[in-house]
Amino acid sequence: MKHLVSVSVLTADFCNLSSEIQMINKSLSDWIHLDVMDGVFVPNISFGFPVIEHVKKEAVRPLDVHLMIVDPDRYLGRFRNSGADILTVQYEACVHLQRTVSEIRNLGMKAGVALNPHSPVSLLKNILPYVDMVLIMTVNPGFGGQTFISESYNKIRELRRMIDENGYNVLIQVDGGVDTSNARSLVEAGVDVLVAGNAVFSSDNPTETIRRLKELE
Ligand code: DX5
Ligand code: ZN
Repeated sequence: MKHLVSVSVLTADFCNLSSEIQMINKSLSDWIHLDVMDGVFVPNISFGFPVIEHVKKEAVRPLDVHLMIVDPDRYLGRFRNSGADILTVQYEACVHLQRTVSEIRNLGMKAGVALNPHSPVSLLKNILPYVDMVLIMTVNPGFGGQTFISESYNKIRELRRMIDENGYNVLIQVDGGVDTSNARSLVEAGVDVLVAGNAVFSSDNPTETIRRLKELE
């Protein structure tokens, strides 16, 4: 399968969010990545349901919603009603993860689980049969524009092996510090979905940067 690109709007211009979404709609981005932060699980607060609902009205691509919040079980239905197509929860925030991802699927969304940089992929062994995607965090979550953690390559390769050896239908996503300089090596290591925010919105030509992430140029 050709890899997918999911553009994160965290560093987009929120005063012109409609035009930023229109830009993504016309680009080669496959999904739109939305980072929800609660100021508790991560040391930052981003946005919630009203913004997601607004993006849903403008977007022609699936919404890939990444929850960096404690106790996500309280809000799964509300994220679905706001327009989430793929809903990813942090491994470290879920005490009963199998129940959480099953509920996400029961609500009609794809279920993802995200792993912080310090958490080994071996923790996922017993949850892989129940998820559609694993998000390997390649920075500590909370902020856009951070430096990619290179140890992530070992985690990606190990997870790729775990998925392939067992024949699971699970996508590998990476998030944080992804840009045109590392996109190709990440895909070669086994990544299916590249998330990119800062690399896109800090570039002179966001549409062209998205094209390069997709075409690996
Ligand atoms: C970080 C977020 C990322 C961020 C992308 O906590 O989860 O999705 O927006 O990171 P950059 O800006 O490095 O692409
Ligand atoms: Zn994210």
